[in-house]
Amino acid sequence: MLDLDAARKQVTQLVSEIARHDYQYYALDAPSLSDNEYDGLYRQLVGLEQQFPELITPDSPTQRVGGLALNAFESVTHRQAMLSLNNAFGDDELLAFDKRVRDSLGFEKGAGEQVAYAVEPKFDGLAITLTYENGLFTQGATRGDGYAGENVTHNLRTIRAIPTKLNVENPPSLLEVRGEVLMLKRDFEQLNATQEKLGAKLFANPRNAAAGSLRQLDAKISASRPLHFFAYGLGETAGAPMLNSHSDAMKYLADLHFPVSDLRATKQGAAGLLAYFKEIGAKRAALPFEIDGVVYKVNQFSQQNELGFIARAPRWAIAHKYPAEEATTLVEGIAVQVGRTGAITPVARLKAVFVGGVTVTNATLHNEDELKRKDIRIGDIVIVRRAGDVIPEVVAVDIAQRPITARIFSMPTVCPECGSHIERPADEAVARCTGGLFCPAQRKQAITHFASRRALDIEGLGEKLADQLVEANLVHSLDDIYKLDVATLANLERMAQKSAQNVIGALAKSKHTTLARFIYGLGIRNVGEATAKDLAAHFGGLQALLDADSGVLLAINDVGPIVAESILQFLSEPHNIQVIASMQNLGVQWPETAGKKRAAGVLLGKVLVLTGTLPNLSRDAAQALIEAAGGKMSGSVSKKTDYVVAGAEAGSKLEKAQDLKVAIIDEAGLLSLLATNSSQAASDSGTKTQTTLFE
Ligand code: IVH
Repeated sequence: MLDLDAARKQVTQLVSEIARHDYQYYALDAPSLSDNEYDGLYRQLVGLEQQFPELITPDSPTQRVGGLALNAFESVTHRQAMLSLNNAFGDDELLAFDKRVRDSLGFEKGAGEQVAYAVEPKFDGLAITLTYENGLFTQGATRGDGYAGENVTHNLRTIRAIPTKLNVENPPSLLEVRGEVLMLKRDFEQLNATQEKLGAKLFANPRNAAAGSLRQLDAKISASRPLHFFAYGLGETAGAPMLNSHSDAMKYLADLHFPVSDLRATKQGAAGLLAYFKEIGAKRAALPFEIDGVVYKVNQFSQQNELGFIARAPRWAIAHKYPAEEATTLVEGIAVQVGRTGAITPVARLKAVFVGGVTVTNATLHNEDELKRKDIRIGDIVIVRRAGDVIPEVVAVDIAQRPITARIFSMPTVCPECGSHIERPADEAVARCTGGLFCPAQRKQAITHFASRRALDIEGLGEKLADQLVEANLVHSLDDIYKLDVATLANLERMAQKSAQNVIGALAKSKHTTLARFIYGLGIRNVGEATAKDLAAHFGGLQALLDADSGVLLAINDVGPIVAESILQFLSEPHNIQVIASMQNLGVQWPETAGKKRAAGVLLGKVLVLTGTLPNLSRDAAQALIEAAGGKMSGSVSKKTDYVVAGAEAGSKLEKAQDLKVAIIDEAGLLSLLATNSSQAASDSGTKTQTTLFE
């Protein structure tokens, strides 16, 4: 039997050997052992630790997974704020950044001297901070609002690319490492394939998969998700060596065995940056991970300090974003989809291709005219584009590769879902199924829309259940959802008693709603959330809306002839009026008001634009407050804008506001604006209860 000292020696050796292999595998992407050999070392360590539990150290790889699941995430205040980056979307914005830097640093105009920049990819994952005390990993947290995040130490510990111990003899007493957790493209594909087999939810893209995996209360789930990490900077440090530049800091991190991107470099001046942007752009599609741009940081720390910060982003760094990613693939077929309002959209069925972070197999062709204009045929090789969570689209056909067998697609004349006639008014681009709620495709989507978060917010009533309800012939019109009971729902396939109860509970809860949500939920064509709110504020009650004629409607802010016509058409349909009355009979209700035209609040008649992320208020909450005070929200900055409310990662809108000299305020500024006379604003806002401000 091994004595304790000999065992200690072996354990220490195994821990550092496994750490070295983790480093070679994850940070250098150069595995030095086969999986079997690695497992052998690991098993040996587990055996020794079982025999001598007193030899288990916190940096042992066996300690990466373990412990019980948490009940909730604890909040962690960052020692040093985790700031965001401003964005540059084109070369002009980038040149303007370099000019600002040069001017601020007092570089002479026209002189040859260039700013030295450290450049690196902008990883499309989640920002995290890792704390090492005396060389050991002690805490890891998400970025949160930049000042405080969530303690996800238990999950970060399972990421083998993150060292549990710094690779240095005399470690600093404190070291905060900043970086990005992400999922490699190939791991994401594999994870989704597994999820599909298990009948579990698929992730939209690698970033969502990484975020979902990191926010698990049970580290065992995180551990089963293949997460990766790249370090891109330092937070607070104590006892670390003197570092003069970002590139020094990155070298230091690499020496400590953190994975750092080998695409990092230093470049001189704007020309150097533009060349780097191009170089990485050319490699982007082939990279093993998603990037949405590159980041430029003034390299010298002394210069960074001189430049400082504005709002919540450094003046010494900028993210240069790439346009949506493109790829080429084959059109295997063309089909049509029926939308909520009956719109018939041609869709290309594509040979699977990885683009913009996901495997794309369908792309919208928008409408018949677009299809003809782009002359997309079955059998064509096409260029597909996808950005973020946007629906992929076909940009163009590669005519040179068109086979003689390519076939022209002609739009159907009857709806593939219900057999009703398809109509296309002469002056419209969109063809529509005339089946209305008779068409199952439209019915399903009408239900999901009505139940969606911004409408009646019925939790559990999503696409899947809507499909089942329609297919089982349980819902013919919207009011039928309020006639469902637990027994009926529990009879549906894959619906447990408990879930059925939850849905019935959510349905009951949704009956207490607001007029705006109800109007929006009806799914009247051309009546979006903003118009629904305008209508509700104007009329105060449903009857006044039902009684309105086109003159009354057109007098409302932002209601034009098209919207008015859609509303009148919807309300002239006896079936729709019956469904509304039936829902009211079944208990759907909202507070009615006298319906003043607009809230006479402090922001009456003011137009505000929100950009970036506010530290405390969600977008919805800010919008509710602004509207309750009589203000109007707009999506773009123009001369008519009164205020731009800017938060973190504010982009081009902020710059436009600066150009147009529009007043720029932050969240605190907004709140103090609202505070002037706020009691007045709330009582005049035309709503009965204060709580509706925060719905
Ligand atoms: S530096 C003070 N470098 O971008 C600057 N950020 O908009 C702090 N990101 O939340 C950030 N790659 O999640 C930096 N190479 C990189 C990055 C990077 C991705 C993300 C990070 C941050 C966001 C800032």
